[in-house]
Amino acid sequence: MIRFLLSLTAAALVAVVSGQTLTGAFDCMAAGDYTLCQNLWGEQAGVGGQNSTLIQTSGNAVTWMTNWTWADAPNNVKSYANLQHNTAMGMQLSQITTAPTVWNWTYLAESEGIRADVSYDIWFGEASSGSPASSASSYEIMIWLSGLGGIQPVGQQILSGLQIAGHTWNLWKGPNANWEVLSFVIADPETPPEVRNFNADLNAFFQYLIQEQGVASTQWRA
Ligand SMILES: *[C@@H]1O[C@H](CO)[C@@H](O)[C@H](O)[C@H]1NC(C)=O
Ligand SMILES: *[C@@H]1O[C@H](CO)[C@@H](O)[C@H](O)[C@H]1NC(C)=O
Ligand SMILES: *[C@@H]1O[C@H](CO)[C@@H](O)[C@H](O)[C@H]1NC(C)=O
Repeated sequence: MIRFLLSLTAAALVAVVSGQTLTGAFDCMAAGDYTLCQNLWGEQAGVGGQNSTLIQTSGNAVTWMTNWTWADAPNNVKSYANLQHNTAMGMQLSQITTAPTVWNWTYLAESEGIRADVSYDIWFGEASSGSPASSASSYEIMIWLSGLGGIQPVGQQILSGLQIAGHTWNLWKGPNANWEVLSFVIADPETPPEVRNFNADLNAFFQYLIQEQGVASTQWRA
């Protein structure tokens, strides 16, 4: 399953909130072509909470908003509100010719010292019907559109200044459980580095990984 993950203080593309709200730690709901999920996997590390509201679905687009307040254990992830695509899975990298995406996001409000990222989280593995973060996982590919408060991806930065999909990225790499994490972190010249209106073909990242990072094109997207 392809996961589009978001971790924000309060994000929305639309100011009027009229939709259904998720409040439970692992609640999910149908959201057009996607499933919207709360994923409070690290909530025990801190104090606080999170709610996610589906605002609108239209064609293959979805608008949602996540509101969270977390405190304590600043280096522990508390939650990862996310959208998972319902059908973009079960194909090999070699079969992917294009993977267009648009992600517009913003913080409606943000506290002083916020530590959070806004990221795609895409899984590849050996099995044609494997699950993300499973024993069949080989790679977790993250694409960070924002990272605030000095937080870092898994592993070490191995490259900087990569030009992919019209933006500049630093590449981080390191192991987690039985898979390798490769994280592209936005390094555009804005302060802080970020891209809020992201419009790209994710296949540019996949091709880079095959050609420059030794990722086998026989890998399956989970
Ligand atoms: C976000 O959560 C805080 C704390 O529960 C609350 O005071 C605030 O009204 C919420 N904002 C929105 C937009 O839901
Ligand atoms: C989430 O919703 C619950 C129930 O309405 C509310 O008590 C809580 O303050 C909300 N939390 C946030 C962070 O918005
Ligand atoms: C995203 O933002 C851009 C620039 O503001 C805008 O042109 C585009 O229509 C927006 N797309 C969506 C899907 O909201």
